[in-house]
Amino acid sequence: MTEPKKLFIKTYGCQMNVYDSERMVEALGGNGYTQVDSADKADMILLNTCHIREKAAEKVYSELGRLKELKDVNPDLKIGVAGCVAQAEGKEIMARAPVVDLIVGPQSYHRLPQMEKAVQRGERAVDTDFPEEDKFDTLNKRPRATRGPTAFLTVQEGCDKFCAFCVVPYTRGAEVSRPKERILREAADLVAAGVREITLLGQNVNAYHGHDEGLAGLIWELADIDGLERIRFTTSHPNDMDDELINAHATCEKLMPYLHLPVQSGSDKILKAMNRKHTRDDYFRLIDRIRGARPDLLLSGDFIVGFPGETDQDFEDTLDLIRQVNYGQAYSFKYSTRPGTPAAEKPQLPDDLMDDRLQELQALLTQQQRAAQDGMVGREVKVLFEKAGRMPGQMIGKSDYLHAVYVEAPTDVKGQVRTVRIVESSRNSLGGVLV
Ligand code: SAH
Ligand code: SF4
Ligand code: F3S
Repeated sequence: MTEPKKLFIKTYGCQMNVYDSERMVEALGGNGYTQVDSADKADMILLNTCHIREKAAEKVYSELGRLKELKDVNPDLKIGVAGCVAQAEGKEIMARAPVVDLIVGPQSYHRLPQMEKAVQRGERAVDTDFPEEDKFDTLNKRPRATRGPTAFLTVQEGCDKFCAFCVVPYTRGAEVSRPKERILREAADLVAAGVREITLLGQNVNAYHGHDEGLAGLIWELADIDGLERIRFTTSHPNDMDDELINAHATCEKLMPYLHLPVQSGSDKILKAMNRKHTRDDYFRLIDRIRGARPDLLLSGDFIVGFPGETDQDFEDTLDLIRQVNYGQAYSFKYSTRPGTPAAEKPQLPDDLMDDRLQELQALLTQQQRAAQDGMVGREVKVLFEKAGRMPGQMIGKSDYLHAVYVEAPTDVKGQVRTVRIVESSRNSLGGVLV
């Protein structure tokens, strides 16, 4: 038998890239590759990249600089760039970085096996098509090997929303939903391999239309799978939260009480300039409906500060929205100019102003996150245990609300959902005891 070739894959960006990386490893498995966790001994290195902000894209070039040293030592090493930077700048990367052998976009990585063969023949391979065929048809079934208790499952890709700041509609293409039969089959395979919690992924996952009854219809069918205990989904757009999905949060026990619902800004003027197609009042009304259905739901959001034209008052409006909504979790970013997006044409705000605003916003959000976490102390929550902790005898899992929870517990709780009483709240996690 020939020695398996070693593939190292480094993943940047969103959960969809995490999912894609898994599928790329599986696709190259057929060419004799197994995944390794260090670049040093690899025969092939893939960078699965993110283009969402300038810094994210720059990282790729600096990483390629480091990888060149490995290739100097091992000239047989093959280096590939996948993901959203590959899609947006593949040709430039090929020109700028001779160390790169392969460029593959997010919609064409099912062609990796052929591309790898071309690379082994000494060619440089580029594929950033948006092919007619569905890559998921070509990809193998998910392997049956035992997996961890949680998994991502992409159900929808691409975006037609065209927010004025965002590259996703260009790097991932138009919104496409996978047929529900395929998703149900993939979910059943994952559960058979030991998965207990599935997070459905899409850039606009609640725009899913592969089921007659939308994402809620899909969730209800998934909930019928024995052995699947928890369902989550991300990322949602406020304009696609329909009544059925909100009702599912009230009535579907397997659907977890956590919702990531980015609003980006609390100023109507900025929301309009961002092309978000909703107002701050629309968002408030929506949050009221969601909390009416599921009062304990933990709400998460994304915010951008320093969008072109953002005044002190606009920024105050965002702080005010945050105070009114009260987030249990949040992600916030300085606006980053992305070439080719409409907002890139507008005059930009000074960097130090954006820094100040980001700091103020993050202080407020951190306060809210801490309060939400501290509020768990004394409560009993359900925890799905995922792995051993750093301390001996300790196991780590996630609560229904997605807080990390450390518990002294036997290792066989891995993969089980157990009731835990929360006894302490530290910086980024909770401590509890089994009930
Ligand atoms: N589809 C999701 C996620 C998009 S990317 C959604 O619509 O919410 C994740 C987050 O990155 C966005 O929610 C936004 O807050 C941030 N983001 C996107 N483009 C950005 C840019 N040009 N500058 C700064 N942050 C950006
Ligand atoms: Fe980007 Fe807006 Fe689409 Fe989200 S909804 S992926 S922010 S264009
Ligand atoms: Fe980044 Fe592409 Fe995801 S740009 S956030 S990896 S869709």
